[in-house]
Amino acid sequence: MRKDRSILVAMGSQSDWPTMAHTAGMLDDFGVRYETAIISAHRTPDRLDHLTTRLSNDEFYVVIAGAGGAAHLAGALAARTIVPVIGIPISSHLQGLDSLLSTVQMPAGVPVATVSIGVAGAKNAALLALQIVAVNDKAISDKLVQHRQQQSLSIPKVPKTAMAAE
Ligand code: RP5
Repeated sequence: MRKDRSILVAMGSQSDWPTMAHTAGMLDDFGVRYETAIISAHRTPDRLDHLTTRLSNDEFYVVIAGAGGAAHLAGALAARTIVPVIGIPISSHLQGLDSLLSTVQMPAGVPVATVSIGVAGAKNAALLALQIVAVNDKAISDKLVQHRQQQSLSIPKVPKTAMAAE
């Protein structure tokens, strides 16, 4: 990764952090630089405006945005940049279905790569961001291959049954 670029991990509220921590944790595991920020599309529109300059300044490789409810954050960020934006629907009032639809149903012309609701999505958002960075970064590409291999090795070949465990 270039020293002057990182990944932006944005979220709509402090209450999103327990989910978004899984994104940050995965990026930590790969040792890549990222920046976290609370930016609410509805409650802090001025922060969105401030970020617009940075988004067009080549500061970020990828933007990851998690939000719940009427989750406009990923789309609002995507509207301001051609940097790839990954949206994480945070599980909220309607078990995250509200967030999923708000994040995924973008109009043609402004894509948001939406992952699944909650923790699985948070982890996959980090992995997808790393895969985007890996297109031009052999070290990260190698680490991703290693991660997949370790993951395969960690899956048992047969289930542990109650009888076998005795
Ligand atoms: C969204 O509203 C946030 O992303 C969060 O998921 C949800 C609830 O926010 P809080 O009321 O907990 O701050 O904007």
